[in-house]
Amino acid sequence: VGFPHCLFYWHNGNMRTLSIVVLAAGQGKRMQSAIPKVLHEIAGKPMLAHVLDECSALKPAVCTVVYGHGGEAVQRAMQSSRDLTWVEQKPQLGTAHAVMQAVPSIGHTNTTLILYGDVPLIQIATMRRLVAEAEAEKLAWLTMEVEDPSGLGRILRNASGAVQAIVEDKDATEAQRTIREINTGFLALPTQWLSDWLPRIHNNNAQKEYYLTDILEMAVAERKPVVTLSPDHKWEVSGVNTKLQLATLERQCQRNHAQRLLEQGVTLLDPDRIDVRGELTAGQDVRIDVNVVFEGKVVLGNDVSIGANCVLRNCSIGDKTEVLPFTLIDAASVGRAARIGPFARVRPDSTLGDDVHIGNFVEVKASTIGDHSKANHLAYIGDATVGVNVNVGAGTITCNYDGANKHRTIIGDNVHIGSDVQLVAPITVASGATIAAGTTLWKDAPADALTLNPKTQTSNPTWKRPNKESKH
Ligand code: UD1
Ligand code: MG
Repeated sequence: VGFPHCLFYWHNGNMRTLSIVVLAAGQGKRMQSAIPKVLHEIAGKPMLAHVLDECSALKPAVCTVVYGHGGEAVQRAMQSSRDLTWVEQKPQLGTAHAVMQAVPSIGHTNTTLILYGDVPLIQIATMRRLVAEAEAEKLAWLTMEVEDPSGLGRILRNASGAVQAIVEDKDATEAQRTIREINTGFLALPTQWLSDWLPRIHNNNAQKEYYLTDILEMAVAERKPVVTLSPDHKWEVSGVNTKLQLATLERQCQRNHAQRLLEQGVTLLDPDRIDVRGELTAGQDVRIDVNVVFEGKVVLGNDVSIGANCVLRNCSIGDKTEVLPFTLIDAASVGRAARIGPFARVRPDSTLGDDVHIGNFVEVKASTIGDHSKANHLAYIGDATVGVNVNVGAGTITCNYDGANKHRTIIGDNVHIGSDVQLVAPITVASGATIAAGTTLWKDAPADALTLNPKTQTSNPTWKRPNKESKH
């Protein structure tokens, strides 16, 4: 303990090591999808990644993922940053058979925690409680009372309430099926016991599967201490077999995000209408209107206000900045006291300074915009460096693309660009320049001068507006 990647920890003066086994071999036919089940996403992250990220705080010596269907795609999706051991289970002969595949990789550890890759919202606190019991040389099993236990393994207890065995739904008698305490599937135990018991499990049951649940009976027979614990929340042990269950857990995960934000003092106009698909950090007195989607890493400063129906992805928003409705900000940073939107689109690699105004139907891409500069209506600013205190008129476009390459536009400080100007890049507008409305700027504009394209204006007094033809 004490340094970040410590693989050992101390318990009662002994060095203990933990292994985690995540079962993820199930195909998930009921998802009706070609994507491996554990890669379906909750809050923008694969279910398996939720499990792996949550359990990483336990700092296991080994984390083994038992995969089956679509293993290569699953491994690729989990990236190399996670230190995982992958073992294939082929064919899939049941949960005990799945854990058996992991034994060679976990045999040297003291304690083992078993998780499911398709039960994504399990919380670290619950895992810690299981592991603590297992470290004290007990078989710790996570069970729960439910309204509808159908399809799940039932916990059998004797007259004095001591746990005896788990019977699978398909093997249960009518009387056993009325039991509402079920097996969540999560457990922790001394690794040695697991290695001893697994080879003794048979598949003489209704499903001809090797049931991991059989080890409970073995523990009782050997008079090993067995404890049952319950999760803090029911949703922690809800598994996903169908798209309906996926959608239900998505909402639960979003409710959890919303609750955390409210606890931190963020104002949510409707906690049921916010989606956080990543990591949202918010300062003090942040106000978020309805239907805002946050993706990736988003940082909001103090007194930030986000209007309805915005999408903010991998961006940071400075203090006192107001993002007005229907705005999309992607991979950009926005300064303090800025005003973005309504209907603005800020695309990747953009840096907007303090007190910048980006108004309706303005698109900004790969551009830097200096403090106090404004583009309030209908403009495209792409591949540009805009100085401070610049005004970009309505309908102004940086013509950054010549059909083959992109070119930059440089606009100095205190420049005033009139409406409907085309800046044909590469081009530089020196500081203090004024560009007249309707100018097509195809040469650099000098500082402090008015630049325009000479045009003439004529009127024809004899011209007559045609009359609308009568239908009859
Ligand atoms: C299992 C339990 C049951 C419990 C239920 C909770 C057993 C025998 N039964 O039921 O008591 O109430 O979970 O959801 O353990 N898996 C593999 N390889 C296999 C079989 C399963 O990796 O050969 C994985 C699945 O991907 C899944 C998990 O193990 O993540 C559970 O499998 P699943 O088929 O959903 O559960 P049951 O066996 O029906
Ligand atoms: Mg099964």
